[in-house]
Amino acid sequence: MVKINTITESILEVKTDGIAFILEDGFEVSKDIKNKIKEFGIDILKLFKKQNFTGKAKSSVSILIPEKNGFKNVFFVGMGCCCNKMEKIAENYRQAIGIAIGLAEKNNIESLAIEIPEGCKKFKELNEAYFAHQTVKTAIVASYKFNEFLTSKEKKDKKLKELILVSKGKNKKLIEERVELAKVLGNAVNEARRWIDLPANKFYPAIAEEEARKIAKEQGLKIKVFGEDQIKKMGMGGLAGVSSGSEQDCKFIILEYKTSKKNAKTLAFIGKGVTFDSGGLSLKPSRGPGSMETMKEDMSGASAVLGAMKAIAQLKPDVNVFGVLAVTENLPGDGALKPGDIVTFYNGKTGEVLNTDAEGRLILADALAYTEKELKPDVMIDIATLTGACVYAVGPFYSGLFSCNENLIEKIKEAGNITGDKVWPLPIDSDYRKAMLSDIADVRNTSKPGYYAGATTAALFLKEFVKETEWAHIDIGGTAFNVPDRPYLGNGATGVGVSLLVELAMNWNKKK
Ligand code: BES
Ligand code: MN
Ligand code: ZN
Repeated sequence: MVKINTITESILEVKTDGIAFILEDGFEVSKDIKNKIKEFGIDILKLFKKQNFTGKAKSSVSILIPEKNGFKNVFFVGMGCCCNKMEKIAENYRQAIGIAIGLAEKNNIESLAIEIPEGCKKFKELNEAYFAHQTVKTAIVASYKFNEFLTSKEKKDKKLKELILVSKGKNKKLIEERVELAKVLGNAVNEARRWIDLPANKFYPAIAEEEARKIAKEQGLKIKVFGEDQIKKMGMGGLAGVSSGSEQDCKFIILEYKTSKKNAKTLAFIGKGVTFDSGGLSLKPSRGPGSMETMKEDMSGASAVLGAMKAIAQLKPDVNVFGVLAVTENLPGDGALKPGDIVTFYNGKTGEVLNTDAEGRLILADALAYTEKELKPDVMIDIATLTGACVYAVGPFYSGLFSCNENLIEKIKEAGNITGDKVWPLPIDSDYRKAMLSDIADVRNTSKPGYYAGATTAALFLKEFVKETEWAHIDIGGTAFNVPDRPYLGNGATGVGVSLLVELAMNWNKKK
């Protein structure tokens, strides 16, 4: 784990083997820095010119300075222009931090100092404390490696040991607070990523239970876990049905964080936890887009909820929060659901299962109905790698957002922009409802022909299981795994949703 220190002296005086400057397009280098580097015979402006470095996003220049007992690497990383979109500046900044951490690792640096920008004049949200927060969170996220199954030492990548934030120190207390939050959050994101990156033979429903119990114990959260027998008895025919093709017992896990604040609102975060999605009897192809190859990722929603609950327990927002995980495998074993089967859900509704690969909605139907009836939250937000259609609709940089409540849409959008877990609202009009109605049961799990919008029709299926509670559905099909062009991420799980859910909980009562 990276050690984080905040200091206020000049970055040139810090004792580290690496320093990084994050620079806007068209930046000017301070005299101090120019002169300092000149001492080593390097004209930095000439070097920038030669390398065509003006501070554009994703560009960088590195120099090596000899020191008494070794070398100091100095990195100049561009973050592009201070454009008109707050979320774009924030994203460019994260990417620059990702590049700086990558350069530090490549150069075997143990301790890296980064100067925190004083803030962006155009947007008051982007103050020094925000940049400090993003620096720390992004650095922790960028340092994540899923290498526990590599047995040879050399193969394991080098890791940064210490990150030093150099700040002008105007808002020391606020900065420290935000840095603490960033540490908790960055580690929760990485923990969620590890659960997702663990293959399905290392992370299955019983392991999800183990991890959830461990977190509950360590963080003082209440926990209740239902096993497959109870799930069947309770009438969760969707969850039990999906699990019936697998040897593994499915689990329904409820974590609860309670604030000490009186009359607080209660949120419920509900995650899809399909630890492996083979498609069931409607078997997926083994290679190519939407294939089985990456379907260990199908528990990313549940992981996001569990990671968020861990962070929430430590950060203690003024809202009550339930974390609800529906965890199962989707396999075509003996007893598996067959296309055409009819299941009965927790709320008594019946569903025709025309395609066993549309399993996420079956388990979320039970989870939503249960949560509304038994936990009675004020708001429900589910998060799921629900559809390939959403991947095609918005790709890897936005999660699909569905809600009938404009306020909730705004809240989630804003939380997405500030954290980087960006969402894009998609239609959920009742026009699409008919697509999901069956002639022989109450609903069907795939759309009738002619409606096409697969992410939307899936959302309308879920909507059938929400009566009156404020609700939003977030489809992270495209954002949970293998997101390209994000220097702070690399391949594999992204941990999308953890920061978003935590941000929502932390700022739920904030007046607009
Ligand atoms: N887990 C998949 C959706 C998915 C696809 C997530 C690609 C991430 C990347 C989901 O269970 C699924 O298979 N959905 C089907 C539904 C269809 C059969 C109606 C899909 O999207 O193809
Ligand atoms: Mn599926
Ligand atoms: Zn799935």
